[in-house]
Amino acid sequence: MLITIDDAVTHLAKGEVVALPTETVYGLAGLALKKASVQKIYSLKGRPSTNPLIVHVADIRAAEELAIFNDRARHTASVFWPGPLTLVLAKKKPVPDLVTADNHTVALRIPNHWVFLEILNRLGKPLAAPSANPSNRTSPTEAGHVRELFGQQCPPIVDGGKCSVGLESTVLDLSGQYPVILRPGLITRAQLEESLGEKIKIHSVLSETVAKNEPKLESAPSPGMLPLHYAPITPLKLYSSVEEFLAPGDFSPEDCVVVSNEKDGNILLAHGYTCSSLSADGCPQKIAQNLYGTLIELDAKKHKSIHLIFTGETRGINRAIWDRLDRAKTR
Ligand code: TXA
Ligand code: MG
Repeated sequence: MLITIDDAVTHLAKGEVVALPTETVYGLAGLALKKASVQKIYSLKGRPSTNPLIVHVADIRAAEELAIFNDRARHTASVFWPGPLTLVLAKKKPVPDLVTADNHTVALRIPNHWVFLEILNRLGKPLAAPSANPSNRTSPTEAGHVRELFGQQCPPIVDGGKCSVGLESTVLDLSGQYPVILRPGLITRAQLEESLGEKIKIHSVLSETVAKNEPKLESAPSPGMLPLHYAPITPLKLYSSVEEFLAPGDFSPEDCVVVSNEKDGNILLAHGYTCSSLSADGCPQKIAQNLYGTLIELDAKKHKSIHLIFTGETRGINRAIWDRLDRAKTR
């Protein structure tokens, strides 16, 4: 059911959960400081309580009530908020342990979507919101996807149009001695390094086949950043070049092909394959915007397999796209 902003505020104030648009993906929102609401989010998503939620706030003052901000955090927040960046910081008392999965840290962000901000301002309370998908499925980037993913269990939705970013926020852990990226996103390592003036590690593992030149990680990944995540139900085969796709020839007539740019689409057309294209020219922002929607729509068509050819490098915004594709592919 689609609802208005007014209705959403009423529902949320009563402790209900509602799907709301952000600039990254749709979120499944509920009052962050009310355990019963947070519990509803975990149950509806089928999310293990060991995987903490992101808390969304309207401004930095509200954020400072929930976490300890050092100079690094204050600087980063002032540069990138509102926006697709989540900061992990030492939490303060009001944040329930349920939200943080018993961690001493809390993940915070100010989203950059007028609907979400309007609702936060009217409520005057922080909202916990993981992506609005059942656990381990692809995140929704349009209101219709939320319905597609939840079916009968669908929460009320505020339709805010198609998400402009299309991938979940970059998660930056500033709670330790050194900053660490726990989840890559549209805000890149290079942007954060330039802004902070220091080297930043990325803590998300790409599998060997994808990350031929990635350095190995020393410690465990973020809670909840399990290898399988963001996945369609249809088996997904991932290729980094057209040649790699053409070589094994394991394409069946019930399969479909997705390419990251139209040039590759035209090469494949000459070989007799019709493809969906994620962008005209390989622009990473466009690919990010279209990726989840394409996967959700193809999933609904119940193909036998999805073959996805992504030819971008593993740097910049493409690093985030590789991260999600690597999680989505069938192992
Ligand atoms: O763009 C986004 O971040 C979207 C929109 C709705 O804001 N939200 C989102 O939430 O992607 P979710 O729950 O799907 O992903 C949250 C990520 C998880 O990987 C979780 O492990 C990590 O943030 N996280 C949350 N709290 C954390 C904490 N205290 N320490 C480390 N990682 C944390
Ligand atoms: Mg998620």
